[in-house]
Amino acid sequence: MANEPKHPTDPGQQPESVPGQDSEYLTTAQGAPVSDTDHSLKAGERGPTLLQDHHLREKIMHFDHERIPERVVHARGAGAHGLFTSYGNAEELTRADFLKPGRTTRVFVRFSTVVGSRGSMDTARDTRGFATKFYTEEGIFDLVGNNIPVFFIQDGIKFPDLVHAAKPHPDTEIPQAQSAHDTFWDFVSLHTPAQAHVMWQMSDRAIPRSLRMMEGFGVHTFRMVNEAGKASLVKFHWKPRLGVHSLAWEESQLAAGADPDFHRRDLAEAIDAGAYPEWELGVQIFPDDGSGVFEGIDLLDPTKFVPEELAPVQPLGKMVLDRNPENYFAQTEQVAFHPGHLVPGIDISDDPLLQARLFSYLDTQLTRLGGPNFAQIPINSPDSPVNDMFRDGFHQHRVPKGIAPYKPNSLDGGCPYMAQVVSGQQPPLDFPQPVASGKKMRSEPASFSDHYSQARLFYISLSAVERAHVQQAYSFELGKCTDTAIRQRQVECLAKIDTQLAAGVAQALGLPAPAAVQLDDPVASPALSQIGKAWPVDG
Ligand code: HEM
Repeated sequence: MANEPKHPTDPGQQPESVPGQDSEYLTTAQGAPVSDTDHSLKAGERGPTLLQDHHLREKIMHFDHERIPERVVHARGAGAHGLFTSYGNAEELTRADFLKPGRTTRVFVRFSTVVGSRGSMDTARDTRGFATKFYTEEGIFDLVGNNIPVFFIQDGIKFPDLVHAAKPHPDTEIPQAQSAHDTFWDFVSLHTPAQAHVMWQMSDRAIPRSLRMMEGFGVHTFRMVNEAGKASLVKFHWKPRLGVHSLAWEESQLAAGADPDFHRRDLAEAIDAGAYPEWELGVQIFPDDGSGVFEGIDLLDPTKFVPEELAPVQPLGKMVLDRNPENYFAQTEQVAFHPGHLVPGIDISDDPLLQARLFSYLDTQLTRLGGPNFAQIPINSPDSPVNDMFRDGFHQHRVPKGIAPYKPNSLDGGCPYMAQVVSGQQPPLDFPQPVASGKKMRSEPASFSDHYSQARLFYISLSAVERAHVQQAYSFELGKCTDTAIRQRQVECLAKIDTQLAAGVAQALGLPAPAAVQLDDPVASPALSQIGKAWPVDG
């Protein structure tokens, strides 16, 4: 398939740069010249204003509708355009065209905080979103990840509970952006699968020094299929060329006060200055042997990561962000990512969190972006040709040709592609899928029941200074929680992760030290127990 690199700095190749605001003189929305936009039309010098002033009504009507709903989560974000260049070494793994040798693909990335509203500060202690849109020759591939490799919950049905608990208190809307409140600690101390994610949040990882210095993780396990139909399971990783660096807590507080735009300013200024941030994309690869388990770790459990000692990250390509958005709203705000935007050769797994996400993003974007045609918004439009047979709907911008938007048809050329597949002239784009069957049930597999070993694994990998920061973060954030029973319950969770950490936090909170707990986990992997304290977390 032809692949002419579309370099973003070449304006002739920017499908998102639809002309706008390009008249030499001021006009109405209909293009008619406007001679006075400073005074409304009045009867006499001192009014009243006349309803017949179309320019006044049109100008105010449009202004009144400038805002759209902010994202229900990840509302605050910063974006950038760039290029992804494949290393061309993935052919054994996947038939995905953009990973073939010599391929260069346009990308748009949006980094975000999760909890805060659109106007909240950048340096809050929070998880960061790391969402990448690849405009490949075979359609859009979205990698919608975070900077933390494990998630809070194991099943998407818990997402509304998690977000209701993490968002500001419904009565006061305080705090706006941080995990320092009763409902958050109430939920995570009761819903203990969250403990591993919270451990990462209390570490320095949750206060990055720069968006350019963060790792990214696809979190879930995905399935890759090669040309021959052979499948492998993979986990995606982004490794920043600048390494992983964090702010100290005091720095994050000062930055929040002095410059709430600290991260978005840093990103925009670095790109303007030509200091283009770079990441390497890699995958951990696991055999698709039907078990969905690797070294005792359930690959379908999104609260678990696989240490790189057990499965090293294989680099597949490099991303460079080299152009700031021309318009924040048109691009960073209107971009619509979706974990189900996949290309042939990359597929989802049965992870129950991922499966629920497949519904959620489309559903929310239907409202957020005003109807079913948001894929036509320039930042969301693929570079590859589209023939989806979708018709009409609010904000339809395309002018479809022909009379037969249905298949099979005998009027608009039938189904030439399908005919070629059947006759063997074209390879099929899909591959044999794994068999799925079972009794319908609402269940939690036994392999999902270990809620503490991964939190411990991360904690023991940290240096003494980083561990001290974790202890201070738990003490500070739990110190903002007003309910003693909730604090006590969270300290008891910590006792199942690390006895000393729990004792230190209890002391800071003026609580009794929790009783010693047997730290064996029901499903802890024998391989995991071999991993020493020197496990490197920095990329
Ligand atoms: C938005 C990541 C789990 C629902 C986002 C964004 C990211 C992200 C990066 C921001 C996208 C952007 O910049 O526009 C993740 C990760 C998850 C996860 C890594 C777990 C591993 C979930 C789950 C649900 C969900 C379980 C619901 C069942 C949403 C919604 C949005 C969102 C509704 C807003 C989308 C929009 O308005 O365009 N998520 N998410 N997420 N996420 Fe997730």
